[in-house]
Amino acid sequence: MAMPRKSTHRTDPFEADTPHGRIPPPCTLVIFGASGDLARRKLIPALYVLSLEGLLPTPFFVVGAGRTPLTTDTFRSSMEEEVRTHSRVPFDATAWSIFAKSLEYVRVDVSSLAGIAPLVSHLHEIDTLRGGASNHLFYLSIPPSGIAPLASLLGESGLSRPASSSFTRLIIEKPFGLNFSTAQALNALLHQSFEEEQIYRIDHYLAKETVQNMMVFRFGNEIFEPLWNRQHIDHVQITVAEPIGIEGRGEYYEESGALRDMVQSHVMQLLAIVGMEPPANFRAETIRDEKVKLLRAVRHIHPDDALSYTVRGQYASGSINGEHVVAYRDEPGVPEGTLRETFVALKVDIDNWRWAGTPFYIRSGKRLAKRVSEIAIQFRSVPHSPFVGNVPTPSATLSEDVIAPNVLVLRIQPDEGISLAFSAKVPGQSMEIREVIMDFHYGSSFLTQSPEAYERLLLDCMLGDATLFAREDEVEEAWRFCTALLDGWRAHPPDRANCPNYPAGSWGPTEADQLLERDGRKWREI
Ligand code: BG6
Repeated sequence: MAMPRKSTHRTDPFEADTPHGRIPPPCTLVIFGASGDLARRKLIPALYVLSLEGLLPTPFFVVGAGRTPLTTDTFRSSMEEEVRTHSRVPFDATAWSIFAKSLEYVRVDVSSLAGIAPLVSHLHEIDTLRGGASNHLFYLSIPPSGIAPLASLLGESGLSRPASSSFTRLIIEKPFGLNFSTAQALNALLHQSFEEEQIYRIDHYLAKETVQNMMVFRFGNEIFEPLWNRQHIDHVQITVAEPIGIEGRGEYYEESGALRDMVQSHVMQLLAIVGMEPPANFRAETIRDEKVKLLRAVRHIHPDDALSYTVRGQYASGSINGEHVVAYRDEPGVPEGTLRETFVALKVDIDNWRWAGTPFYIRSGKRLAKRVSEIAIQFRSVPHSPFVGNVPTPSATLSEDVIAPNVLVLRIQPDEGISLAFSAKVPGQSMEIREVIMDFHYGSSFLTQSPEAYERLLLDCMLGDATLFAREDEVEEAWRFCTALLDGWRAHPPDRANCPNYPAGSWGPTEADQLLERDGRKWREI
């Protein structure tokens, strides 16, 4: 593919400050759970890359806060190891020594006001003596049950309220509740200490370059949007498949399952971006308003329809890339005989003018054949094929089936890009028609590595750009849909004799194929 032409149009509401991008104001990021997995593998390496790329402000401080008794020196040296292992870019000792100076550690006990007093005084010292500008970000990288109590503690300690002309922001990770009512309760609790504008809910799918590109693709090009509706699109398939299992998170996964883990968050966000109306501008609230409108139009699956609109699966043992893997039930932390779903397929109807009658089919699961996240837009077949009956030689017989409908595939990962399948004439004397693919690959077209999701999200949060974060009402709408489904599932438990129902390394249970076959459709072969 040709190299992209440079566009002079900035879609970004912020002006560039450096050749690489925007620089936030001086601030201090407090990471609760700083010795946890997320901080070590994702957050600190992401901050290191931002520092290396000159995108962090001066001064900038990262305060690791946790129960583990660590000194700042030991914290720095353990983080150095993590950065060496997990950074997206090769380790650079000079860059590390510059970044390491911003890292500090404070021991806290988040069970009481007295327990976080050392953090309150540390921040006060940074702000008053070291030019920290009183801009604070609190990243709660802690288990879900600790989020609401810690947010309340920050409220009680006064840390949730920004000093005048400063900002205070709260960053939280999913899961945002376990169903609609717990999500609503969590939001209400957070709002006792923080305004909605201060809360940044992370859905790391939104920060994937290819997910952001879906908006540019739809709203930065004239040719596709007029076709983006029920008149031209037969159906949409969203696939988020993972070959990995539950990776030692047995307890979490057993409570969550595929629907809560992937669909309520990542997949509903993808659905919202593919289905939403064009936003009037690229501001956070405008985009989030459009996404919410779409989510509100998603038809809830009535409990009586739970079995005809959805399929649950659970993996048995099998083989992935030639290696034997155990069944879900044999994973550590998973109770014997559990019926918890590790795969889900569903048919989603959207009740609005644009999508009425065009279903969205979703499938997501663990231990599937390949790692693939993609959205396939399958266009309608041509209304009449002029080629049928005009075949010059009997050997080149044509039927209407020969003209495969156009399919546009937005590949989110791993092979990021976009492809369009269309019909072409095979060279030769006969009118033979075959499907060919026009393909755009991110890697070869831009010759540059995409930033890690957490680099983008941390930077956006420091800049106060909430576009790629889930707003309260988005989360609640997605839960409203999933909770109705969970109610239906509860009323129709899986058939014990048919669980597990797919071998690891397959594409899920056969019932998932039947879900589409009933509508005369089939899943794309990937
Ligand atoms: C997380 C889920 O949110 O997303 C995991 O909890 C899942 O179960 C992960 O594996 C997938 O993210 P990615 O970026 O690897 O597709």
